Amino acid sequence: MESSPYSVSSLNHSPFNFCCNMQETMKMMKIVAVLLVAVLSASLRCAVAGRVRNLESSTYEIKYNAINCRTHSASLTDFGAVGDGLTSNTKAFQDAVNQLSQFASDGGVQLYVPAGKWLTGSISLTSHFTLYLHRDAVLLASQDMNEWPVLKPLPSYGRGRDAAAGRYQSLIFGTNLTDVIVTGDNGTIDGQGAFWWQKFHGGKLKYTRPYLIEFMYSDTVQISSLTLLNSPSWNVHPVYSSNVLVQGITILAPVQSPNTDGINPDSCTNVKIEDCYIVSGDDCVAVKSGWDEYGISYGMPTQHLIIRRLTCISPYSATIALGSEMSGGIGDVRAEDITAINTESGIRIKTAVGRGAYVKDIYVKRMSMHTMKWAFKMDGDYKSHPDNRYDPNALPVIQNINYRDIVAENVAMAARFDGIPGDPFSGICIANVTLGMAAKSKKYPWTCTDIQGMTSGVSPPPCDLLPDQGVEKISECDFPQDNLPIDELEVKQCAYRTG
Ligand SMILES: *[C@@H]1O[C@H](CO)[C@@H](O)[C@H](O)[C@H]1NC(C)=O
Ligand SMILES: *[C@@H]1O[C@H](CO)[C@@H](O)[C@H](O)[C@H]1NC(C)=O
Ligand SMILES: *[C@@H]1O[C@H](CO)[C@@H](O)[C@H](O)[C@H]1NC(C)=O
Repeated sequence: MESSPYSVSSLNHSPFNFCCNMQETMKMMKIVAVLLVAVLSASLRCAVAGRVRNLESSTYEIKYNAINCRTHSASLTDFGAVGDGLTSNTKAFQDAVNQLSQFASDGGVQLYVPAGKWLTGSISLTSHFTLYLHRDAVLLASQDMNEWPVLKPLPSYGRGRDAAAGRYQSLIFGTNLTDVIVTGDNGTIDGQGAFWWQKFHGGKLKYTRPYLIEFMYSDTVQISSLTLLNSPSWNVHPVYSSNVLVQGITILAPVQSPNTDGINPDSCTNVKIEDCYIVSGDDCVAVKSGWDEYGISYGMPTQHLIIRRLTCISPYSATIALGSEMSGGIGDVRAEDITAINTESGIRIKTAVGRGAYVKDIYVKRMSMHTMKWAFKMDGDYKSHPDNRYDPNALPVIQNINYRDIVAENVAMAARFDGIPGDPFSGICIANVTLGMAAKSKKYPWTCTDIQGMTSGVSPPPCDLLPDQGVEKISECDFPQDNLPIDELEVKQCAYRTG
């Protein structure tokens, strides 16, 4: 410990870093006991707040739920970080992660970010690691291009979305990790996106814009209790990963900002997105799995995804989008208790000839929508390809799509469903849906081509390709009753004392 430039509290021993002879230990223990009584009575009074300030010293007791608690904890300030909003902390962060990674095999470690404005470039995390942001901590994304390493394009995309050459590593990044947590007491990560949006609009990007949080090839990931502001591009991007929990995230970006998607699970298995509030310039949740021939050959689907209690405001995009990059396949998506306000569409499937793969076994129930252009949308001709080498015979299969128990008001068009000629989207089932149309809505609220399916108890009356079978058929549009493995993931209560 003496040789360490930083202090790490080991929580399986005493949370205090004292070491002395027996007599002093006894004296210390008495003081600790008195302190504990003070802390306990304070914690009783403040139990609801979940965060307790110890008045005698300036330590905090922090408590939060996590998939894993850590044995060790250290503060970012131990590594020379300065929270003035001006000093770059990229090196302090990276030193912290590098030095603390030694605790990975000894119960793991939490890196505590205190109140302050912490300017930083991209930081790469390690396994069995928790990054915790104090309520008044703000991570500010650096605008110095030298603080953003460049990565190769994702193999399932073949090229970067903004520029073919490659992509800037995300602000919070991790690859090939197990058991990593980014959380806080609603602390903030501010991407300072205007700088990047301007470059994007001006065609001045050499590489694809960074995301705010990305984990690649990782297992057991938690991203929770944070506010994400003004991302340069997508906000949260788990890719080629499994067992991912995204919980209690507030995402805010101007509704005109380019590609500021909220949460994009991409070629991931077992993902749960819960209790998120998103205002953004693109789709609030966009489920993806790679692009055309690159996605087909990579062949990694997004599957077993739960989306629960999502609120979305996005006037130019979708609440939940499936695609358009879906060339590894998208299957078994379950969305419930979804609220859309002033959003372009509710559920939107986007695909095209050349995408291949499938979108199947999609279930949505209990959704409420207010002021929408379309409640539902499906696009079989979503034009955007990585290059012109896509296979014109790679037709996507869109099958078993179920929407039920949905109410909406002030809707301009109920649905626009455009399948692919010669490749109809099939097994569409819509039940118990009441769409209140806007005063100036279209005469024919449903437009359908190249689709097959049925409806039950739906108003206004659907298109001929989705005949209404009467209210007794509501249960045909099923929602699975079984639990997914991600719902069995146990969450523990963790507590730390920290400076
Ligand atoms: C991460 O995992 C992927 C997939 O297993 C592998 O191809 C890649 O080489 C790994 N990268 C590192 C840095 O270990
Ligand atoms: C977190 O902060 C955001 C932005 O200030 C706020 O809108 C949201 O209500 C907060 N969430 C919680 C759970 O405190
Ligand atoms: C129809 O949906 C509403 C919510 O929009 C729900 O309260 C009701 O129970 C549903 N009816 C049936 C028969 O499932």
